[in-house]
Amino acid sequence: TWSIPLFTSPPEEHHPLAIAATALKSSNLPVAFPTETVYGLGADATRSEAVRGIYAAKGRPSDNPLIVHVPDLDMLKRFLPDTGLPEIYKEMITKFWPGPLTILLPVPTGKGGILAPEVTAGLETFGVRMPASALARTLIKLVGNPLAAPSANASTRPSPTKAEHVLEDLEGRIELILDGGDCSVGVESTVVDGLCSPPVVLRPGGVGIEELKKCKGWEGVVKGYKDHSEVGDKNGTPRAPGMKYKHYSPRARVVLFEGGKRLEKGDVKGGGGETVAFIRTGKWREVAGGSRSSKVEERIRGEGEEGGSFVVKQGVLLDEDGKEITKLLDVDLGQDVKGVAHGLFAALRELDRLGADVIFVEGVSDGDDIAAAVMNRLRKAASEIRH
Ligand code: TXA
Ligand code: MG
Repeated sequence: TWSIPLFTSPPEEHHPLAIAATALKSSNLPVAFPTETVYGLGADATRSEAVRGIYAAKGRPSDNPLIVHVPDLDMLKRFLPDTGLPEIYKEMITKFWPGPLTILLPVPTGKGGILAPEVTAGLETFGVRMPASALARTLIKLVGNPLAAPSANASTRPSPTKAEHVLEDLEGRIELILDGGDCSVGVESTVVDGLCSPPVVLRPGGVGIEELKKCKGWEGVVKGYKDHSEVGDKNGTPRAPGMKYKHYSPRARVVLFEGGKRLEKGDVKGGGGETVAFIRTGKWREVAGGSRSSKVEERIRGEGEEGGSFVVKQGVLLDEDGKEITKLLDVDLGQDVKGVAHGLFAALRELDRLGADVIFVEGVSDGDDIAAAVMNRLRKAASEIRH
Protein backbone atom coordinates (compact mmCIF):
# COMPACT_ATOMS: atom_id res chain seq x y z
CA THR A 1 0.00 0.00 0.00
CA TRP A 2 3.03 2.29 -0.04
CA SER A 3 3.11 2.34 -3.81
CA ILE A 4 2.48 6.08 -3.76
CA PRO A 5 4.42 8.50 -5.92
CA LEU A 6 6.96 9.89 -3.44
CA PHE A 7 7.63 7.25 -0.80
CA THR A 8 8.37 3.57 -0.57
CA SER A 9 7.82 3.63 3.19
CA PRO A 10 5.87 6.05 5.42
CA PRO A 11 7.48 9.51 5.74
CA GLU A 12 8.86 10.56 9.13
CA GLU A 13 6.45 12.46 11.31
CA HIS A 14 8.23 15.81 10.76
CA HIS A 15 8.12 15.53 7.01
CA PRO A 16 5.94 18.38 5.62
CA LEU A 17 3.67 15.86 3.94
CA ALA A 18 3.16 13.97 7.20
CA ILE A 19 2.42 17.23 9.06
CA ALA A 20 -0.11 18.24 6.39
CA ALA A 21 -1.73 14.79 6.47
CA THR A 22 -2.01 14.86 10.27
CA ALA A 23 -3.65 18.30 10.11
CA LEU A 24 -6.13 17.05 7.53
CA LYS A 25 -7.02 14.13 9.76
CA SER A 26 -7.44 16.08 12.98
CA SER A 27 -8.06 19.80 12.36
CA ASN A 28 -11.20 21.48 11.07
CA LEU A 29 -9.15 24.22 9.43
CA PRO A 30 -8.36 23.45 5.80
CA VAL A 31 -4.90 22.72 4.37
CA ALA A 32 -3.75 24.24 1.06
CA PHE A 33 -1.85 21.93 -1.27
CA PRO A 34 -0.47 22.12 -4.81
CA THR A 35 -2.01 20.40 -7.79
CA GLU A 36 -0.93 20.65 -11.43
CA THR A 37 -3.81 23.08 -12.15
CA VAL A 38 -4.02 25.49 -9.20
CA TYR A 39 -3.54 25.23 -5.43
CA GLY A 40 -6.44 23.49 -3.70
CA LEU A 41 -7.88 24.16 -0.26
CA GLY A 42 -8.34 20.68 1.11
CA ALA A 43 -10.38 18.94 3.77
CA ASP A 44 -11.18 15.29 4.42
CA ALA A 45 -14.28 14.84 2.22
CA THR A 46 -15.82 12.42 4.71
CA ARG A 47 -15.80 14.85 7.68
CA SER A 48 -18.56 17.48 7.69
CA GLU A 49 -16.90 19.84 10.19
CA ALA A 50 -13.70 19.86 8.17
CA VAL A 51 -15.56 20.51 4.89
CA ARG A 52 -17.48 23.39 6.48
CA GLY A 53 -14.07 24.86 7.34
CA ILE A 54 -13.37 25.26 3.61
CA TYR A 55 -16.49 27.34 2.98
CA ALA A 56 -15.73 29.49 6.03
CA ALA A 57 -12.08 30.13 5.09
CA LYS A 58 -12.87 31.03 1.49
CA GLY A 59 -16.05 32.97 2.05
CA ARG A 60 -17.59 30.61 -0.48
CA PRO A 61 -21.37 30.39 -0.96
CA SER A 62 -22.55 27.05 0.40
CA ASP A 63 -24.53 26.24 -2.77
CA ASN A 64 -21.30 25.86 -4.74
CA PRO A 65 -20.14 22.20 -4.60
CA LEU A 66 -16.54 21.09 -4.15
CA ILE A 67 -14.44 18.77 -6.28
CA VAL A 68 -13.31 15.52 -4.63
CA HIS A 69 -9.71 14.44 -5.22
CA VAL A 70 -8.54 10.82 -5.26
CA PRO A 71 -5.00 9.47 -5.62
CA ASP A 72 -5.86 6.29 -7.47
CA LEU A 73 -8.67 4.13 -8.83
CA ASP A 74 -8.86 2.08 -5.64
CA MET A 75 -10.05 5.10 -3.71
CA LEU A 76 -12.46 6.02 -6.50
CA LYS A 77 -14.01 2.56 -6.24
CA ARG A 78 -15.05 3.34 -2.68
CA PHE A 79 -17.73 5.61 -4.14
CA LEU A 80 -18.88 2.96 -6.57
CA PRO A 81 -19.17 -0.31 -4.62
CA ASP A 82 -22.30 -1.46 -6.44
CA THR A 83 -22.52 0.44 -9.68
CA GLY A 84 -18.95 0.62 -10.97
CA LEU A 85 -17.73 3.44 -13.18
CA PRO A 86 -20.16 4.51 -15.93
CA GLU A 87 -18.93 3.23 -19.33
CA ILE A 88 -18.89 6.76 -20.80
CA TYR A 89 -15.94 7.73 -18.60
CA LYS A 90 -13.75 4.67 -19.03
CA GLU A 91 -11.68 5.69 -22.05
CA MET A 92 -11.55 9.26 -20.85
CA ILE A 93 -10.01 8.56 -17.47
CA THR A 94 -7.53 6.14 -18.99
CA LYS A 95 -6.38 8.97 -21.25
CA PHE A 96 -6.53 11.97 -18.94
CA TRP A 97 -6.07 10.72 -15.39
CA PRO A 98 -4.10 11.59 -13.48
CA GLY A 99 -4.65 15.09 -14.87
CA PRO A 100 -6.82 18.20 -15.17
CA LEU A 101 -10.19 16.53 -15.80
CA THR A 102 -13.14 16.41 -13.37
CA ILE A 103 -16.00 13.99 -14.04
CA LEU A 104 -19.48 14.05 -12.48
CA LEU A 105 -20.77 10.89 -10.80
CA PRO A 106 -24.05 10.23 -9.00
CA VAL A 107 -23.77 11.01 -5.29
CA PRO A 108 -23.27 7.56 -3.82
CA THR A 109 -25.65 6.11 -1.24
CA GLY A 110 -25.52 2.92 0.80
CA LYS A 111 -22.05 1.48 1.25
CA GLY A 112 -20.53 4.10 -1.07
CA GLY A 113 -22.18 6.98 0.77
CA ILE A 114 -19.08 8.25 2.51
CA LEU A 115 -19.08 11.88 1.35
CA ALA A 116 -20.02 14.63 3.79
CA PRO A 117 -23.22 16.26 2.43
CA GLU A 118 -21.51 19.69 2.46
CA VAL A 119 -19.27 18.53 -0.40
CA THR A 120 -22.08 18.22 -2.89
CA ALA A 121 -24.16 21.23 -1.81
CA GLY A 122 -27.39 19.28 -2.19
CA LEU A 123 -26.84 18.22 -5.83
CA GLU A 124 -27.41 14.68 -7.10
CA THR A 125 -23.95 14.50 -8.61
CA PHE A 126 -20.45 15.17 -7.37
CA GLY A 127 -17.26 16.04 -9.22
CA VAL A 128 -14.14 13.92 -8.82
CA ARG A 129 -10.65 14.05 -10.24
CA MET A 130 -7.25 12.41 -9.88
CA PRO A 131 -4.64 15.18 -9.86
CA ALA A 132 -1.37 14.68 -11.73
CA SER A 133 0.66 16.30 -8.96
CA ALA A 134 2.63 13.60 -7.11
CA LEU A 135 2.59 15.76 -3.98
CA ALA A 136 -1.20 15.97 -4.08
CA ARG A 137 -1.66 12.25 -4.61
CA THR A 138 0.82 11.35 -1.91
CA LEU A 139 -0.91 13.68 0.53
CA ILE A 140 -4.33 12.12 -0.15
CA LYS A 141 -2.87 8.64 0.24
CA LEU A 142 -1.40 9.60 3.60
CA VAL A 143 -4.75 10.97 4.78
CA GLY A 144 -6.40 7.79 3.60
CA ASN A 145 -9.59 9.55 2.58
CA PRO A 146 -10.55 11.61 -0.49
CA LEU A 147 -9.96 15.36 -0.18
CA ALA A 148 -12.60 17.89 -1.07
CA ALA A 149 -10.86 20.95 -2.47
CA PRO A 150 -11.87 24.09 -4.26
CA SER A 151 -9.20 26.45 -5.57
CA ALA A 152 -7.37 28.01 -2.61
CA ASN A 153 -8.18 31.66 -3.35
CA ALA A 154 -10.60 33.91 -1.53
CA SER A 155 -13.90 33.81 -3.45
CA THR A 156 -13.89 36.12 -6.55
CA ARG A 157 -10.05 36.43 -6.62
CA PRO A 158 -7.81 34.92 -9.32
CA SER A 159 -6.97 31.29 -8.55
CA PRO A 160 -3.61 30.65 -6.84
CA THR A 161 -0.78 29.11 -8.83
CA LYS A 162 1.91 29.72 -6.18
CA ALA A 163 1.93 29.17 -2.42
CA GLU A 164 2.39 32.96 -1.96
CA HIS A 165 -0.97 33.55 -3.65
CA VAL A 166 -2.70 31.36 -1.08
CA LEU A 167 -0.98 33.22 1.76
CA GLU A 168 -2.04 36.55 0.25
CA ASP A 169 -5.72 35.57 0.35
CA LEU A 170 -6.07 33.19 3.28
CA GLU A 171 -3.36 33.92 5.84
CA GLY A 172 -4.68 33.28 9.33
CA ARG A 173 -7.73 31.39 8.09
CA ILE A 174 -6.18 28.04 7.26
CA GLU A 175 -4.04 25.43 8.99
CA LEU A 176 -1.05 25.43 6.63
CA ILE A 177 0.12 25.59 3.05
CA LEU A 178 2.13 22.79 1.52
CA ASP A 179 4.44 24.68 -0.88
CA GLY A 180 5.05 22.71 -4.06
CA GLY A 181 6.20 25.61 -6.23
CA ASP A 182 4.44 26.80 -9.38
CA CYS A 183 1.44 24.90 -10.74
CA SER A 184 2.37 23.65 -14.19
CA VAL A 185 -0.98 24.00 -15.98
CA GLY A 186 -2.12 27.24 -14.35
CA VAL A 187 -5.87 27.03 -15.04
CA GLU A 188 -8.36 24.70 -13.36
CA SER A 189 -9.54 21.30 -14.50
CA THR A 190 -12.10 20.75 -17.24
CA VAL A 191 -15.43 19.74 -15.63
CA VAL A 192 -17.53 17.29 -17.67
CA ASP A 193 -20.90 15.63 -17.22
CA GLY A 194 -21.19 12.33 -19.05
CA LEU A 195 -24.35 11.29 -17.20
CA CYS A 196 -26.58 13.23 -19.58
CA SER A 197 -26.98 12.93 -23.33
CA PRO A 198 -25.27 14.50 -25.15
CA PRO A 199 -22.42 14.85 -22.66
CA VAL A 200 -21.55 18.37 -21.59
CA VAL A 201 -18.49 20.42 -20.72
CA LEU A 202 -19.50 22.47 -17.68
CA ARG A 203 -16.22 24.34 -17.34
CA PRO A 204 -13.40 24.55 -19.91
CA GLY A 205 -10.01 23.77 -18.36
CA GLY A 206 -6.69 22.01 -18.72
CA VAL A 207 -8.01 19.29 -21.07
CA GLY A 208 -9.28 20.74 -24.37
CA ILE A 209 -12.64 19.92 -25.91
CA GLU A 210 -10.87 18.73 -29.06
CA GLU A 211 -9.15 16.08 -26.92
CA LEU A 212 -12.42 15.02 -25.24
CA LYS A 213 -14.09 14.59 -28.64
CA LYS A 214 -11.64 11.81 -29.49
CA CYS A 215 -13.09 9.61 -26.72
CA LYS A 216 -15.83 7.09 -27.44
CA GLY A 217 -19.24 8.60 -26.65
CA TRP A 218 -17.91 12.17 -26.56
CA GLU A 219 -17.88 12.98 -30.27
CA GLY A 220 -20.97 15.16 -29.87
CA VAL A 221 -20.01 16.84 -26.58
CA VAL A 222 -21.61 20.27 -26.14
CA LYS A 223 -20.57 23.36 -24.22
CA GLY A 224 -22.71 23.86 -21.15
CA TYR A 225 -21.04 27.03 -19.98
CA LYS A 226 -21.52 30.62 -20.88
CA ASP A 227 -18.58 32.90 -21.35
CA HIS A 228 -19.89 36.19 -22.33
CA SER A 229 -20.37 38.35 -19.29
CA GLU A 230 -23.26 37.06 -17.25
CA VAL A 231 -24.11 40.59 -16.19
CA GLY A 232 -27.68 41.30 -17.22
CA ASP A 233 -28.09 37.90 -18.85
CA LYS A 234 -31.35 36.38 -17.65
CA ASN A 235 -31.42 33.19 -19.75
CA GLY A 236 -29.57 30.11 -18.78
CA THR A 237 -28.29 29.70 -15.26
CA PRO A 238 -24.95 27.93 -15.64
CA ARG A 239 -25.11 24.28 -14.55
CA ALA A 240 -21.82 24.38 -12.67
CA PRO A 241 -22.98 26.56 -9.79
CA GLY A 242 -19.55 28.16 -9.49
CA MET A 243 -19.77 29.57 -13.00
CA LYS A 244 -22.44 32.09 -12.07
CA TYR A 245 -20.33 34.10 -9.66
CA LYS A 246 -18.01 37.00 -10.34
CA HIS A 247 -14.68 35.32 -10.61
CA TYR A 248 -10.97 35.45 -11.17
CA SER A 249 -10.85 39.20 -10.58
CA PRO A 250 -7.88 41.26 -9.50
CA ARG A 251 -8.57 44.58 -7.77
CA ALA A 252 -7.59 46.41 -10.94
CA ARG A 253 -10.18 46.93 -13.66
CA VAL A 254 -9.59 44.43 -16.47
CA VAL A 255 -10.11 45.44 -20.11
CA LEU A 256 -10.06 42.42 -22.42
CA PHE A 257 -9.14 42.67 -26.09
CA GLU A 258 -11.15 39.98 -27.89
CA GLY A 259 -11.21 38.32 -31.26
CA GLY A 260 -7.62 38.95 -32.25
CA LYS A 261 -7.79 42.64 -31.34
CA ARG A 262 -4.31 43.67 -30.29
CA LEU A 263 -3.07 46.50 -28.15
CA GLU A 264 -2.12 49.33 -30.46
CA LYS A 265 -0.40 52.63 -30.46
CA GLY A 266 -2.55 55.17 -28.70
CA ASP A 267 -4.58 52.69 -26.63
CA VAL A 268 -2.95 54.21 -23.61
CA LYS A 269 -3.27 57.96 -23.45
CA GLY A 270 -2.10 58.58 -19.91
CA GLY A 271 -3.27 61.21 -17.51
CA GLY A 272 -5.41 60.95 -14.44
CA GLY A 273 -2.58 59.51 -12.42
CA GLU A 274 -3.61 55.92 -13.11
CA THR A 275 -1.15 53.07 -13.19
CA VAL A 276 -1.77 51.28 -16.47
CA ALA A 277 -0.73 47.67 -17.04
CA PHE A 278 -0.62 45.44 -20.12
CA ILE A 279 -0.68 41.70 -20.46
CA ARG A 280 0.45 40.84 -23.95
CA THR A 281 0.03 37.54 -25.71
CA GLY A 282 1.00 38.69 -29.18
CA LYS A 283 4.06 40.21 -30.74
CA TRP A 284 5.38 43.24 -28.86
CA ARG A 285 4.18 46.57 -30.16
CA GLU A 286 4.34 50.06 -28.90
CA VAL A 287 1.04 50.95 -27.27
CA ALA A 288 1.53 54.07 -25.20
CA GLY A 289 1.56 57.63 -26.26
CA GLY A 290 -0.82 58.90 -28.91
CA SER A 291 0.85 61.96 -30.44
CA ARG A 292 3.87 61.55 -28.22
CA SER A 293 4.35 57.95 -29.19
CA SER A 294 7.65 58.30 -30.96
CA LYS A 295 9.26 59.49 -27.77
CA VAL A 296 7.66 57.06 -25.45
CA GLU A 297 9.77 54.01 -25.93
CA GLU A 298 12.98 55.67 -24.86
CA ARG A 299 11.16 57.24 -21.97
CA ILE A 300 9.94 53.96 -20.62
CA ARG A 301 12.58 53.32 -18.07
CA GLY A 302 12.94 50.80 -15.36
CA GLU A 303 14.12 47.28 -15.21
CA GLY A 304 12.39 43.97 -15.51
CA GLU A 305 11.32 42.47 -12.25
CA GLU A 306 11.08 38.76 -11.71
CA GLY A 307 7.47 37.66 -11.56
CA GLY A 308 7.83 33.91 -11.85
CA SER A 309 7.72 32.69 -15.41
CA PHE A 310 7.34 36.19 -16.79
CA VAL A 311 8.98 39.54 -16.30
CA VAL A 312 7.12 42.72 -15.42
CA LYS A 313 8.67 45.73 -17.12
CA GLN A 314 8.02 48.99 -15.32
CA GLY A 315 8.13 52.43 -16.86
CA VAL A 316 6.57 55.85 -16.93
CA LEU A 317 4.92 57.93 -19.60
CA LEU A 318 6.12 61.53 -19.50
CA ASP A 319 4.63 64.66 -21.01
CA GLU A 320 6.64 67.20 -23.07
CA ASP A 321 7.90 68.85 -19.91
CA GLY A 322 9.17 65.58 -18.55
CA LYS A 323 6.38 65.38 -16.01
CA GLU A 324 5.26 61.87 -15.14
CA ILE A 325 1.66 61.35 -16.28
CA THR A 326 1.18 57.59 -16.12
CA LYS A 327 3.00 54.65 -14.62
CA LEU A 328 3.25 51.68 -16.96
CA LEU A 329 3.57 47.98 -16.15
CA ASP A 330 4.11 45.51 -18.94
CA VAL A 331 3.94 41.70 -18.92
CA ASP A 332 4.52 39.52 -21.96
CA LEU A 333 3.11 36.00 -21.52
CA GLY A 334 4.37 34.94 -24.95
CA GLN A 335 2.50 33.50 -27.90
CA ASP A 336 2.25 29.89 -26.77
CA VAL A 337 -1.22 29.37 -25.32
CA LYS A 338 0.02 26.88 -22.71
CA GLY A 339 2.46 29.50 -21.48
CA VAL A 340 -0.34 32.05 -21.34
CA ALA A 341 -2.47 29.66 -19.25
CA HIS A 342 0.48 28.95 -16.98
CA GLY A 343 1.21 32.61 -16.24
CA LEU A 344 -2.22 34.23 -16.43
CA PHE A 345 -3.42 34.17 -12.81
CA ALA A 346 0.06 34.97 -11.49
CA ALA A 347 0.29 37.97 -13.84
CA LEU A 348 -3.08 39.34 -12.71
CA ARG A 349 -2.02 39.02 -9.09
CA GLU A 350 1.45 40.48 -9.65
CA LEU A 351 0.05 43.53 -11.44
CA ASP A 352 -2.37 44.05 -8.56
CA ARG A 353 0.50 43.88 -6.12
CA LEU A 354 2.42 46.48 -8.12
CA GLY A 355 -0.54 48.84 -7.90
CA ALA A 356 -2.17 48.62 -11.36
CA ASP A 357 -5.46 50.53 -11.64
CA VAL A 358 -6.34 49.11 -15.02
CA ILE A 359 -5.02 46.03 -16.84
CA PHE A 360 -5.33 45.80 -20.62
CA VAL A 361 -5.16 42.12 -21.60
CA GLU A 362 -4.75 40.72 -25.09
CA GLY A 363 -6.89 37.60 -25.48
CA VAL A 364 -5.77 34.48 -27.33
CA SER A 365 -7.61 33.02 -30.32
CA ASP A 366 -10.53 31.04 -29.00
CA GLY A 367 -9.80 27.40 -29.85
CA ASP A 368 -11.03 24.05 -28.58
CA ASP A 369 -7.83 23.63 -26.61
CA ILE A 370 -6.69 25.26 -23.38
CA ALA A 371 -7.37 28.63 -25.07
CA ALA A 372 -11.06 28.12 -24.23
CA ALA A 373 -10.14 28.04 -20.54
CA VAL A 374 -7.95 31.14 -20.82
CA MET A 375 -10.68 33.13 -22.56
CA ASN A 376 -13.36 31.87 -20.16
CA ARG A 377 -11.38 33.10 -17.16
CA LEU A 378 -10.54 36.41 -18.79
CA ARG A 379 -14.13 37.11 -19.79
CA LYS A 380 -15.19 36.55 -16.22
CA ALA A 381 -12.44 38.79 -14.87
CA ALA A 382 -13.10 41.60 -17.36
CA SER A 383 -15.30 44.57 -16.67
CA GLU A 384 -14.93 45.76 -20.25
CA ILE A 385 -14.47 43.82 -23.48
CA ARG A 386 -13.24 45.46 -26.70
CA HIS A 387 -13.61 43.83 -30.09
O1 TXA B 1 -8.41 22.20 -11.08
C1 TXA B 1 -9.35 22.19 -10.28
O2 TXA B 1 -10.44 21.70 -10.56
C2 TXA B 1 -9.10 22.84 -8.90
C3 TXA B 1 -8.06 22.00 -8.17
C4 TXA B 1 -7.85 22.45 -6.75
O3 TXA B 1 -8.43 20.65 -8.24
N1 TXA B 1 -10.33 22.92 -8.19
C5 TXA B 1 -11.30 23.81 -8.49
O4 TXA B 1 -12.39 23.81 -7.64
O5 TXA B 1 -11.24 24.57 -9.44
P1 TXA B 1 -13.44 24.98 -7.59
O6 TXA B 1 -14.29 24.66 -6.43
O7 TXA B 1 -12.74 26.29 -7.56
O8 TXA B 1 -14.28 24.83 -8.87
C6 TXA B 1 -15.12 23.71 -9.04
C7 TXA B 1 -16.13 23.97 -10.14
C8 TXA B 1 -17.17 24.97 -9.71
O9 TXA B 1 -17.52 25.77 -10.83
C9 TXA B 1 -18.33 24.08 -9.26
O10 TXA B 1 -19.56 24.72 -9.33
C10 TXA B 1 -18.21 22.92 -10.25
O11 TXA B 1 -16.82 22.74 -10.42
N2 TXA B 1 -18.80 21.70 -9.72
C11 TXA B 1 -18.37 20.93 -8.69
N3 TXA B 1 -19.22 19.92 -8.46
C12 TXA B 1 -20.20 20.01 -9.36
C13 TXA B 1 -21.40 19.27 -9.65
N4 TXA B 1 -21.75 18.21 -8.95
N5 TXA B 1 -22.21 19.68 -10.65
C14 TXA B 1 -21.86 20.76 -11.38
N6 TXA B 1 -20.76 21.51 -11.16
C15 TXA B 1 -19.95 21.14 -10.17
MG1 MG C 1 -12.32 28.26 -7.96
